[in-house]
Amino acid sequence: MADRPKHGLARGLTNYGDADFSLYLRRSFAKSMGYSHAMLDRPVVGIAHSASGYNNCHRHFPELIDAVKRGVLAAGGLPIEFPTISLGEVFLNPTSMMYRNLMSMDVEEMTCAQPMDSVVLLGGCDKTLPAQLMGSISANVPAIHVVAGPMMTSLYKGERLGACTDCRRFWGRYRGGEISQQEIGRVEDGLATTAGTCAVMGTASTMACLAEALGMILPGTASIPAVHADRLRAAEASGMRAVALAKEGLTPDRIVTEKSVENALRVLLAIGGSTNAIIHLTAVAGRRGVEISLDRLNEISDETPVLVDLKPTGPYYMEDLFAAGGLGPVLRELRPLLHLDCLTVSGETLGQRLEAVPEYVDHKVIHKFDDPVYPEGGLVALFGSLAPEGAILKRSAADPSLFEKEGRAVVFGSLDDLAERMDDPDLAVDADDFLVLQNAGPKSNSGMPEAGYLPIPGKLARKGVKDMVRLSDARMSGTAFGTIILHIAPEASVGGPLSKVRNGDRIRLSVKERRLDLLVDAAELAKRTPKADLADPTRGYKRLYADHVLQAPLGCDFDFLRKSGK
Ligand code: FES
Repeated sequence: MADRPKHGLARGLTNYGDADFSLYLRRSFAKSMGYSHAMLDRPVVGIAHSASGYNNCHRHFPELIDAVKRGVLAAGGLPIEFPTISLGEVFLNPTSMMYRNLMSMDVEEMTCAQPMDSVVLLGGCDKTLPAQLMGSISANVPAIHVVAGPMMTSLYKGERLGACTDCRRFWGRYRGGEISQQEIGRVEDGLATTAGTCAVMGTASTMACLAEALGMILPGTASIPAVHADRLRAAEASGMRAVALAKEGLTPDRIVTEKSVENALRVLLAIGGSTNAIIHLTAVAGRRGVEISLDRLNEISDETPVLVDLKPTGPYYMEDLFAAGGLGPVLRELRPLLHLDCLTVSGETLGQRLEAVPEYVDHKVIHKFDDPVYPEGGLVALFGSLAPEGAILKRSAADPSLFEKEGRAVVFGSLDDLAERMDDPDLAVDADDFLVLQNAGPKSNSGMPEAGYLPIPGKLARKGVKDMVRLSDARMSGTAFGTIILHIAPEASVGGPLSKVRNGDRIRLSVKERRLDLLVDAAELAKRTPKADLADPTRGYKRLYADHVLQAPLGCDFDFLRKSGK
């Protein structure tokens, strides 16, 4: 028994000081689950899933897992599912972002500690796919991801509703007094009506597209709706492919490279993707020792047009992207700008994949390169005295009339302060002011929530003001729209310049020059005490997080999880 090849259940034996005994014991206990000896001799495919009663987006996972298992069995493997942490976006306090790294550690450690020759990872809701990508890259066991797929829209009074751009649109109308409490209740019933991830180009959909661009999910599968039969067929095919991956030994380090990360960055810009995705992609790349510089982001942004016309910026939803042809036609439009020699999890290179001409493309949804939705990339990085290490603006989701502007700061020192005073009728604010939120970054007590979409103060909302310049060290939901500057680094809680902004200061924004400056002289700033609210938990994961989380330009990963070097 000692010279048996180390695959399947023989991998990574529990240490009792006698390897043969360990394998005998493991097989014996596995047989208690009813497996035959022949089945236990097959290559083992782990299925890491993130189903949970606290995750509405993953409620179809039992069916999806069955389909993966069917594929594994058909290809001669033994599927063994195991749960990992799940992060249901709206069910976590203070924010799902705080737990992304914890989930990535769970995925990495359980993939490495348990015997499997390859792993299929099922995720989708905002932080789950980034966490799984980070974990699978660090584990570097042959891996294929399967995404949940987007929700379907529903109809309300003849109007399409989909989470979550429409959530915010209707909430804005409710806050502005345009619709009643009864009506917002009916909208609440109809915003999220099927399994799957948010129906627009939010963070989950953006990350699904980036996973396809990276080559970590099967081609053509990013946009398949959660409830479509093709989603089950994709899961079955992924299960089959996982068996082949186990035999080929194709590991993530051969797929996720500097070139494939750059492809993903380009796709992020071309789809008008979520601002969160730049943080997640940076963290994913960091697990391979690949750096993403915000200067490089700006260069790529200048040469990459937005081609996909989905909400929150356009009129369409993810199900429309699927019907229009999916991500494949987008990649074909971008082909001259992509690294085509990148290997994908299918075993083909990206170039080989793109040789097939799509049968049908709806160019209302997926624009041609020479007829873009927006001539430049959706995201841009800003630098300046207020953001020495950078900040992000989703210019494709912002009002261009606010891009070159100087304004007076109206400062909120924390989320609690914001909640307390935003609707105060005595708040000294007008539509030309810049709203500033401090202490909402990764090391703050709030754990970098999606609070950067500061609401328009009640008294201005009621006058019909729809957009203002808003700045913070927080994040923003990928489903939101507005002139919102995010991820300011260094954050206020560690004493960054943001912590020294005071009411009435002048701030200058120039998107053209990529600048964000606090127009206060150095002598005055030196006199000011930072308003810094640094989290200081006493124990557990939160202590680990506080000690090791990095700033947004490093993906908010933990310092000890990043891989240095290429
Ligand atoms: Fe899960 Fe939006 S709540 S993707």
